[in-house]
Amino acid sequence: MNKKDILPVDFMWGGATAANQYEGAWDVGGKKASTADVMTGGTHTNPRRITKHIEEGVYYPSHEAVDFYHHYKEDIKLFAEMGFKCFRMSIAWSRIFPNADDRVANEEGLQFYDNVFSELKKYNIEPVVTISHYEAPFALTEKYNGWVSREVIDHYVKYCNTLFTRYKDVVKYWITFNEINSLMVPAGAFLAGALLIDDSGAFNNTTIDSSQMRFQALHHQLVASAKAVDLAHKINPNFKVGCMINYSLGYASTCNPKDIVKAQKHDQINNMICGDVHVRGEYPAFTKRYFEENNIKIETAEADQETLKNGCVDFYTFSYYKSHVVGTRPEGDETQGNVFGGFKNPYLKATDWGWQIDPEGLRYVLNHVYDRYKIPMMVVENGLGAVDVVEKDGTINDDYRIEYLKGHIEQMKEAVYDGVELIGYTPWGCIDIVSASTGEMKKRYGFIYVDKDNDGKGTLNRWKKKSFGWYQKVIATNGEEL
Ligand code: BG6
Repeated sequence: MNKKDILPVDFMWGGATAANQYEGAWDVGGKKASTADVMTGGTHTNPRRITKHIEEGVYYPSHEAVDFYHHYKEDIKLFAEMGFKCFRMSIAWSRIFPNADDRVANEEGLQFYDNVFSELKKYNIEPVVTISHYEAPFALTEKYNGWVSREVIDHYVKYCNTLFTRYKDVVKYWITFNEINSLMVPAGAFLAGALLIDDSGAFNNTTIDSSQMRFQALHHQLVASAKAVDLAHKINPNFKVGCMINYSLGYASTCNPKDIVKAQKHDQINNMICGDVHVRGEYPAFTKRYFEENNIKIETAEADQETLKNGCVDFYTFSYYKSHVVGTRPEGDETQGNVFGGFKNPYLKATDWGWQIDPEGLRYVLNHVYDRYKIPMMVVENGLGAVDVVEKDGTINDDYRIEYLKGHIEQMKEAVYDGVELIGYTPWGCIDIVSASTGEMKKRYGFIYVDKDNDGKGTLNRWKKKSFGWYQKVIATNGEEL
């Protein structure tokens, strides 16, 4: 794609992170445990554990993460050097309301984000703030079993009210929940703070599931999100509030019509239920049959329908890393991905973590979603998790990362030429942070290397990878030189 000036001049280039994977300082400045803080380290083959309390002598990667809390000035300076126009970050809810039901917000926590926002302002970097990125105060799990309980909606709205009021003049772009549709699959239960109890009375989110609980929790999040959008617009009509969908692109495994319908159902259920509620303010028609066939009975309040209608988002954001295949099982194995997996696509290669690389899929998703909703879109996560090798002279030649990102940016440009209104791009983990799925450090996404290993050892020093200079040039030429 050589067309010049295809991206708008004010295109929001940046990078994305999340507090629980980046910030550290988990018990500093009045903060208390979040749901992410009770997740142990793990690996690709050895899953992370959820513990009911912080266990002595156990490694919890989020506790220090890569310590943005104490390195924010240094990191933001590096982002500015790359030319970032925006920076996606999240706020740790338990830094603001450590016990969730605190009468007043924790001033020290609010002050920390004041400092971050003014540092960003110094470099004209626009914050894009996720209000809840895969975490909530652990107290909400202890008191209510997380989002399964309707009471959590009010706690979330109170939290939003505090953020919107405090940061009224410094933050314009908000995202209510990260990858809200992750609740479609069993792993999503704890992402909504819910612990599942097995027959022996022990909690066990590894081998048991309750779709009933997950969809109830999801409904509460959707209502909470709509209330937040409405509130945001009342507090500052200039606020732009978006949803965030973990886009699960599942191609039909053959052209057998049965496979085509399976792929369509996959898309409807996993992507469109949440997308439609956020953008159109109502559950799509196909939800009814899905709930009936899966014996899901959601408890709703009378006002919910109206609440959803009054809380439609201003823009649609999503994460996109990979695609997979659904339908008749093709030759070959299953493939993995962020939350959603499927079968392997013989036309695609995969990362070391088994996520299949598919730049064209990004163009497909952008077109597909834009045709449906016709509102501005932003790709807020995309990237390659890989092991980086530090050479003796300190250089890190991450050409594989450059190749991955280049391919996806090319396809974004194609989509814009197709007519999609794309307003920004924030590759994931613009600085190395803890992996959400495995808790590892060695699965790195960044343009900036952080010296820390899987066991938590390292100096936390930062230095630039080869991709740093490459991305700097991409931004400087507004995507023309890739
Ligand atoms: C997304 C999440 O699903 O994928 C991020 O929003 C996560 O929090 C990212 O880090 C990449 O996944 P992982 O497991 O490689 O860190």
